[in-house]
Amino acid sequence: MTDASLTYAHVPPVRFRPSAPEPLERDPGLLPMLFSPRMSRNVLTAIPREAFERSYRQVKVLNLTYHGINEPDAIKRVFLDNAQNYRRPGFVKRMLQPILGDSLLNTEGDAWRGQRRLMAGTFTPHAVDAVTPLFARLAERSCDRTPGDGGPVDMAAEATRTTLEVIDEALYSGQTGMPFQEVSSLVRDVMVGTGQLRLSLLLGLQGLDPGAAQRRARRAQRILAQRMGGFIRARAAMADAPDDFITRLYRTFASEHPHDEAIQLTLDNAMTFFVAGHETTANGLAWAVYLLASDDQAQTWAREESLAAWREGDPALVAERLPYLRMVWEETLRLYPPVHRIDREALGDDELCGQRIRKGDQVTIWPWVLHRHRTLWDEPDLFNPENFDPEAKLGRHRYQYIPFGAGPRICIGMGFAQTEALIILSRWLATFRFAPAPGRKVEPLADFTLRPQGGMPLLVERI
Ligand code: HEM
Repeated sequence: MTDASLTYAHVPPVRFRPSAPEPLERDPGLLPMLFSPRMSRNVLTAIPREAFERSYRQVKVLNLTYHGINEPDAIKRVFLDNAQNYRRPGFVKRMLQPILGDSLLNTEGDAWRGQRRLMAGTFTPHAVDAVTPLFARLAERSCDRTPGDGGPVDMAAEATRTTLEVIDEALYSGQTGMPFQEVSSLVRDVMVGTGQLRLSLLLGLQGLDPGAAQRRARRAQRILAQRMGGFIRARAAMADAPDDFITRLYRTFASEHPHDEAIQLTLDNAMTFFVAGHETTANGLAWAVYLLASDDQAQTWAREESLAAWREGDPALVAERLPYLRMVWEETLRLYPPVHRIDREALGDDELCGQRIRKGDQVTIWPWVLHRHRTLWDEPDLFNPENFDPEAKLGRHRYQYIPFGAGPRICIGMGFAQTEALIILSRWLATFRFAPAPGRKVEPLADFTLRPQGGMPLLVERI
């Protein structure tokens, strides 16, 4: 960037096609999907072209009817207008129960409402502002430990480490005692085991599944729950516990439930926030830095802006000074939504996309597909931050872009994640230059979340 007065609007649009599996010409059907190692391991490789072109598709699996919807008005009906008719499906609850129990993410009705109200205070814009200096400190620490000698660095691992430190410090005062290396590999085992498409899951028998990945996931769940359980019990017994998220949760649960139940509910939520609060943001960061590494112009622009924002000093204001990087971040979550599918089950009859929905039917909404839909986006497979230029956003349906979900169950950590990501990304960009690692192909893999298969090796050079 030579002319500091240039704004991104004067730069010719950036266009490149980042890594994504080529859609299939025909629907593969359920059985080939279940028994193909490639497709069952990575469901993104099993999506037919028509999914990206049609607003509605129906699939029958055993005795269940799945309605795949890509029409923004219908999505709005499911998430907002008729949200009381839709809940998380039984199979998702069964899948998450062993690790997340009856936490905010895995509960419904009054129990969910009570928990959501209890936790909302931790995630208000004001509360997020208060943790911004922490984001800045941990972003700085990430830069200090990253070699930056021009050699390859796995930026997915670095993102995971940084976001794990953020969540540990922000919500648990850094006291979980969960060692990074071990925890991140345990969390990965859980994601792989729960993310695979298996007949056992459809039948509700995943607890008995003898597959190697499923056994590893169950073992990882046990170890994580044991470690976190130790931390929660110690916290509950402390007279002068820090006044943080987890202490406040425990005290409220303890005032409403018997001791063991309060411990269990606190543990369920501690696990939920520990996993949901870092894994998704880490994946978003890894994809964002990959996109920027592959596009010199976008990277240069984002770096200029980041350097200027940090020069001003106050970390609390940095995120406000990054309009271009924010567009890059939003475009990243369009192309690589960390939560690639969101499912619901109908509690009563309804109509969506002109189709009858019966009680017990499954409604499935895939941000991965919706965000690349041919009828909703121009050149949907290309990286184009200008999709999120404030003016371009005005002409768009709110429900065609849903990386954080929508309606009452929208991600509670959305504001936290957005500020955290902008602070970490801008700090990285102000410190390093990123380039693709030659000979290393990056591919998205849909486990429980969408992550880069085999990590995100990039060449990283300190500026
Ligand atoms: C880029 C980062 C993130 C993305 C893309 C993301 C995405 C999502 C999505 C799509 C949902 C809704 C799922 C549904 O409707 O079924 C959700 C819910 C949730 N997220 Fe996030 N999330 C992110 C970061 C975070 C963070 C940082 C936290 C906590 C600190 C968090 C905690 C939660 C929780 C607890 C729920 C359940 C909310 C409820 O059911 O009331 N997430 N997230």
